[in-house]
Amino acid sequence: RKPISTIRMRKMKQEGIPISVVTAYDYPSAKLAEEAGVDVLLVGDSLGNVVLGYESTLPVTIDDMVYHTRAVTRAVSTSFVVADMPFNTYHGSIDTTLSHAGRLMQEGRAKAVKMEGGKEIAAAVAACTSAGIPVMGHLGLTPQSVYQIGGYLIQGKTEQQAKKLLEDAQALEEAGAFSIVLELLTDEVAAYISSRLSIPTIGIGAGAGCDGQVLVFHDLLQYGSGSAPKKFVKTYANLGEQIRSGLAEYVKDVKTKQFPAQEHSFKGDGKVIDQLYG
Ligand code: KIV
Ligand code: NA
Repeated sequence: RKPISTIRMRKMKQEGIPISVVTAYDYPSAKLAEEAGVDVLLVGDSLGNVVLGYESTLPVTIDDMVYHTRAVTRAVSTSFVVADMPFNTYHGSIDTTLSHAGRLMQEGRAKAVKMEGGKEIAAAVAACTSAGIPVMGHLGLTPQSVYQIGGYLIQGKTEQQAKKLLEDAQALEEAGAFSIVLELLTDEVAAYISSRLSIPTIGIGAGAGCDGQVLVFHDLLQYGSGSAPKKFVKTYANLGEQIRSGLAEYVKDVKTKQFPAQEHSFKGDGKVIDQLYG
Protein backbone atom coordinates (compact mmCIF):
# COMPACT_ATOMS: atom_id res chain seq x y z
CA ARG A 1 0.00 0.00 0.00
CA LYS A 2 1.16 3.55 -0.75
CA PRO A 3 1.81 5.82 2.23
CA ILE A 4 -1.29 7.83 3.26
CA SER A 5 -0.90 11.60 2.77
CA THR A 6 -2.96 14.71 3.47
CA ILE A 7 -3.72 14.89 -0.28
CA ARG A 8 -4.91 11.28 -0.28
CA MET A 9 -7.21 12.00 2.68
CA ARG A 10 -8.80 14.95 0.89
CA LYS A 11 -9.32 12.72 -2.17
CA MET A 12 -10.91 10.05 0.01
CA LYS A 13 -13.45 12.63 1.18
CA GLN A 14 -14.21 13.62 -2.43
CA GLU A 15 -14.60 9.98 -3.43
CA GLY A 16 -16.71 9.12 -0.39
CA ILE A 17 -14.15 6.63 0.95
CA PRO A 18 -14.30 6.71 4.77
CA ILE A 19 -10.98 7.34 6.58
CA SER A 20 -10.15 4.88 9.38
CA VAL A 21 -8.29 6.29 12.38
CA VAL A 22 -7.29 4.64 15.64
CA THR A 23 -5.12 5.84 18.50
CA ALA A 24 -1.74 4.20 19.16
CA TYR A 25 0.83 4.83 21.86
CA ASP A 26 3.56 2.23 21.40
CA TYR A 27 5.41 0.01 18.93
CA PRO A 28 3.39 -3.24 18.99
CA SER A 29 -0.03 -1.58 18.84
CA ALA A 30 1.09 0.68 15.98
CA LYS A 31 2.51 -2.27 14.06
CA LEU A 32 -0.72 -4.26 14.46
CA ALA A 33 -2.86 -1.27 13.46
CA GLU A 34 -0.85 -0.72 10.30
CA GLU A 35 -1.01 -4.42 9.44
CA ALA A 36 -4.79 -4.23 9.91
CA GLY A 37 -4.95 -1.45 7.29
CA VAL A 38 -5.66 1.56 9.49
CA ASP A 39 -5.19 4.79 7.46
CA VAL A 40 -4.20 7.17 10.25
CA LEU A 41 -2.64 6.50 13.66
CA LEU A 42 -3.31 9.19 16.22
CA VAL A 43 -0.89 9.39 19.11
CA GLY A 44 -3.60 10.96 21.26
CA ASP A 45 -3.07 12.60 24.60
CA SER A 46 -5.70 10.06 25.70
CA LEU A 47 -2.34 8.43 26.45
CA GLY A 48 -2.82 10.08 29.85
CA ASN A 49 -6.07 8.22 30.56
CA VAL A 50 -5.54 4.84 28.96
CA VAL A 51 -1.80 4.23 29.31
CA LEU A 52 -0.43 6.47 32.07
CA GLY A 53 -3.31 6.16 34.53
CA TYR A 54 -4.23 9.86 34.89
CA GLU A 55 -7.86 10.89 35.24
CA SER A 56 -7.70 13.42 32.40
CA THR A 57 -5.43 14.38 29.50
CA LEU A 58 -4.14 17.51 31.27
CA PRO A 59 -1.04 16.02 32.99
CA VAL A 60 0.41 14.73 29.69
CA THR A 61 3.60 16.62 28.76
CA ILE A 62 5.31 17.38 25.47
CA ASP A 63 8.11 14.99 26.55
CA ASP A 64 5.52 12.20 27.07
CA MET A 65 4.13 12.88 23.59
CA VAL A 66 7.54 12.92 21.89
CA TYR A 67 8.55 9.63 23.57
CA HIS A 68 5.36 7.78 22.62
CA THR A 69 5.18 9.28 19.12
CA ARG A 70 8.72 8.03 18.46
CA ALA A 71 7.70 4.51 19.49
CA VAL A 72 4.71 4.61 17.11
CA THR A 73 6.60 6.02 14.12
CA ARG A 74 9.32 3.36 14.51
CA ALA A 75 6.63 0.77 13.76
CA VAL A 76 4.95 2.17 10.66
CA SER A 77 5.74 2.86 7.03
CA THR A 78 2.40 3.60 5.35
CA SER A 79 -0.07 4.74 8.03
CA PHE A 80 -0.11 8.51 8.54
CA VAL A 81 0.92 9.41 12.10
CA VAL A 82 -0.64 12.44 13.82
CA ALA A 83 0.56 13.48 17.31
CA ASP A 84 -1.51 15.48 19.78
CA MET A 85 -0.17 18.79 21.04
CA PRO A 86 -0.73 18.39 24.79
CA PHE A 87 -2.45 20.82 27.17
CA ASN A 88 -1.00 24.32 27.34
CA THR A 89 1.65 23.87 24.63
CA TYR A 90 0.07 25.95 21.82
CA HIS A 91 -1.62 28.95 23.44
CA GLY A 92 1.49 30.99 24.19
CA SER A 93 3.74 32.72 21.66
CA ILE A 94 3.98 31.46 18.10
CA ASP A 95 7.65 30.64 18.80
CA THR A 96 6.86 28.28 21.66
CA THR A 97 4.01 26.71 19.70
CA LEU A 98 6.34 26.06 16.76
CA SER A 99 9.04 24.63 18.98
CA HIS A 100 6.59 22.18 20.58
CA ALA A 101 5.08 21.16 17.23
CA GLY A 102 8.59 20.94 15.78
CA ARG A 103 9.65 18.46 18.47
CA LEU A 104 6.75 16.15 17.61
CA MET A 105 7.80 16.25 13.95
CA GLN A 106 11.62 16.09 14.34
CA GLU A 107 12.09 13.93 17.44
CA GLY A 108 8.76 12.09 17.30
CA ARG A 109 8.81 11.89 13.49
CA ALA A 110 5.08 12.51 13.24
CA LYS A 111 3.68 13.63 9.90
CA ALA A 112 1.24 16.11 11.51
CA VAL A 113 0.07 17.50 14.84
CA LYS A 114 -3.41 17.92 16.30
CA MET A 115 -4.70 20.86 18.35
CA GLU A 116 -8.00 21.40 20.16
CA GLY A 117 -10.00 24.58 19.57
CA GLY A 118 -11.48 26.91 16.95
CA LYS A 119 -10.93 30.56 16.03
CA GLU A 120 -8.77 31.16 19.10
CA ILE A 121 -6.06 28.83 17.75
CA ALA A 122 -6.33 29.84 14.07
CA ALA A 123 -3.08 31.85 14.27
CA ALA A 124 -1.24 28.84 15.74
CA VAL A 125 -2.65 26.59 13.00
CA ALA A 126 -1.59 29.06 10.29
CA ALA A 127 1.93 29.40 11.74
CA CYS A 128 2.45 25.64 11.87
CA THR A 129 1.03 25.18 8.38
CA SER A 130 3.42 27.83 6.98
CA ALA A 131 6.30 26.06 8.72
CA GLY A 132 5.49 22.79 6.94
CA ILE A 133 3.69 21.20 9.88
CA PRO A 134 0.25 19.87 8.83
CA VAL A 135 -2.41 20.46 11.49
CA MET A 136 -5.50 18.44 12.33
CA GLY A 137 -8.11 20.42 14.26
CA HIS A 138 -10.37 19.11 17.03
CA LEU A 139 -13.79 20.59 17.87
CA GLY A 140 -16.82 19.70 19.97
CA LEU A 141 -16.01 18.09 23.28
CA THR A 142 -12.35 18.99 23.60
CA PRO A 143 -11.00 17.01 26.58
CA GLN A 144 -8.22 19.49 27.41
CA SER A 145 -11.01 22.00 28.25
CA VAL A 146 -13.13 19.57 30.27
CA TYR A 147 -12.92 21.73 33.41
CA GLN A 148 -13.84 24.84 31.41
CA ILE A 149 -16.75 23.03 29.69
CA GLY A 150 -17.92 21.46 32.97
CA GLY A 151 -18.00 17.79 31.97
CA TYR A 152 -18.00 15.31 29.09
CA LEU A 153 -21.17 16.77 27.55
CA ILE A 154 -22.66 16.36 24.06
CA GLN A 155 -21.94 19.49 22.02
CA GLY A 156 -23.97 21.22 19.29
CA LYS A 157 -27.34 20.87 21.02
CA THR A 158 -28.31 24.54 20.78
CA GLU A 159 -28.53 26.72 17.68
CA GLN A 160 -25.89 29.02 19.13
CA GLN A 161 -23.48 26.12 19.75
CA ALA A 162 -24.05 24.70 16.26
CA LYS A 163 -23.41 28.09 14.66
CA LYS A 164 -20.17 28.56 16.61
CA LEU A 165 -19.00 25.02 15.74
CA LEU A 166 -19.47 25.67 12.02
CA GLU A 167 -17.67 29.03 12.25
CA ASP A 168 -14.79 27.43 14.15
CA ALA A 169 -14.54 24.60 11.61
CA GLN A 170 -14.44 27.10 8.74
CA ALA A 171 -11.80 29.19 10.56
CA LEU A 172 -9.63 26.07 10.95
CA GLU A 173 -10.00 25.17 7.27
CA GLU A 174 -9.09 28.76 6.28
CA ALA A 175 -6.07 28.68 8.59
CA GLY A 176 -4.83 25.62 6.68
CA ALA A 177 -5.92 22.62 8.78
CA PHE A 178 -5.98 19.45 6.65
CA SER A 179 -8.68 17.68 8.68
CA ILE A 180 -10.79 18.17 11.82
CA VAL A 181 -11.82 15.74 14.57
CA LEU A 182 -15.43 16.24 15.69
CA GLU A 183 -15.98 14.79 19.17
CA LEU A 184 -19.33 14.19 20.90
CA LEU A 185 -21.58 16.16 18.55
CA THR A 186 -25.14 15.40 17.58
CA ASP A 187 -25.10 13.52 14.28
CA GLU A 188 -26.99 16.24 12.37
CA VAL A 189 -24.57 19.01 13.32
CA ALA A 190 -21.51 16.85 12.55
CA ALA A 191 -22.96 15.86 9.17
CA TYR A 192 -23.80 19.46 8.30
CA ILE A 193 -20.31 20.73 9.22
CA SER A 194 -18.78 17.88 7.19
CA SER A 195 -20.86 18.87 4.15
CA ARG A 196 -19.75 22.49 4.39
CA LEU A 197 -15.98 21.77 4.49
CA SER A 198 -13.66 20.58 1.74
CA ILE A 199 -11.28 19.01 4.30
CA PRO A 200 -12.27 15.68 5.86
CA THR A 201 -13.88 15.45 9.29
CA ILE A 202 -13.06 12.53 11.59
CA GLY A 203 -15.83 11.73 14.04
CA ILE A 204 -15.84 10.21 17.52
CA GLY A 205 -19.30 10.03 19.03
CA ALA A 206 -20.43 12.25 16.15
CA GLY A 207 -22.47 9.90 13.95
CA ALA A 208 -22.14 8.48 10.46
CA GLY A 209 -22.07 11.77 8.56
CA CYS A 210 -18.36 12.40 9.16
CA ASP A 211 -15.72 11.61 6.51
CA GLY A 212 -13.86 9.23 8.82
CA GLN A 213 -14.06 7.69 12.27
CA VAL A 214 -11.64 7.50 15.18
CA LEU A 215 -11.75 5.38 18.33
CA VAL A 216 -9.35 4.93 21.20
CA PHE A 217 -7.41 1.66 20.80
CA HIS A 218 -8.04 0.56 24.39
CA ASP A 219 -11.78 1.34 24.13
CA LEU A 220 -12.53 -0.62 20.97
CA LEU A 221 -10.48 -3.63 22.06
CA GLN A 222 -11.51 -3.43 25.74
CA TYR A 223 -7.86 -3.40 26.68
CA GLY A 224 -7.84 -2.01 30.17
CA SER A 225 -8.96 -2.58 33.70
CA GLY A 226 -12.60 -2.97 32.70
CA SER A 227 -14.58 0.29 32.80
CA ALA A 228 -17.99 0.10 31.09
CA PRO A 229 -17.93 0.74 27.33
CA LYS A 230 -19.12 4.23 26.37
CA LYS A 231 -22.30 4.57 24.26
CA PHE A 232 -20.41 5.77 21.17
CA VAL A 233 -17.83 2.95 21.25
CA LYS A 234 -18.39 -0.34 19.46
CA THR A 235 -16.16 -3.01 20.95
CA TYR A 236 -14.43 -5.55 18.71
CA ALA A 237 -12.47 -7.67 21.19
CA ASN A 238 -12.06 -8.15 24.91
CA LEU A 239 -8.31 -8.03 25.35
CA GLY A 240 -8.53 -7.09 29.02
CA GLU A 241 -10.35 -10.31 29.86
CA GLN A 242 -7.96 -12.42 27.73
CA ILE A 243 -4.91 -10.84 29.32
CA ARG A 244 -6.23 -11.22 32.86
CA SER A 245 -7.06 -14.90 32.41
CA GLY A 246 -3.79 -15.63 30.61
CA LEU A 247 -1.80 -14.06 33.42
CA ALA A 248 -3.84 -15.83 36.10
CA GLU A 249 -3.08 -19.17 34.42
CA TYR A 250 0.63 -18.32 34.32
CA VAL A 251 0.63 -17.51 38.05
CA LYS A 252 -1.11 -20.82 38.76
CA ASP A 253 1.42 -22.76 36.65
CA VAL A 254 4.35 -21.17 38.46
CA LYS A 255 2.86 -21.86 41.89
CA THR A 256 2.06 -25.49 41.00
CA LYS A 257 5.36 -26.01 39.13
CA GLN A 258 3.54 -26.79 35.89
CA PHE A 259 5.83 -24.21 34.30
CA PRO A 260 8.55 -24.50 33.12
CA ALA A 261 8.22 -28.03 31.73
CA GLN A 262 11.00 -30.07 30.08
CA GLU A 263 10.31 -28.49 26.71
CA HIS A 264 10.98 -25.00 28.06
CA SER A 265 14.30 -26.01 29.65
CA PHE A 266 17.86 -26.26 28.28
CA LYS A 267 19.18 -29.69 29.03
CA GLY A 268 22.73 -30.02 30.41
CA ASP A 269 24.92 -32.94 29.26
CA GLY A 270 25.36 -34.27 32.79
CA LYS A 271 29.14 -33.68 32.77
CA VAL A 272 29.64 -30.20 34.17
CA ILE A 273 28.37 -30.85 37.63
CA ASP A 274 29.98 -34.37 37.68
CA GLN A 275 33.39 -32.96 36.80
CA LEU A 276 33.10 -30.17 39.34
CA TYR A 277 31.71 -32.03 42.32
CA GLY A 278 31.80 -35.48 41.19
O1 KIV B 1 -6.47 11.83 22.44
C1 KIV B 1 -7.27 11.22 21.70
O2 KIV B 1 -7.39 9.99 21.73
C2 KIV B 1 -8.09 12.01 20.78
C3 KIV B 1 -9.11 11.31 19.95
C4 KIV B 1 -10.14 10.65 20.76
C5 KIV B 1 -9.69 12.18 18.91
O3 KIV B 1 -7.89 13.20 20.73
NA1 NA C 1 -6.54 14.08 22.33
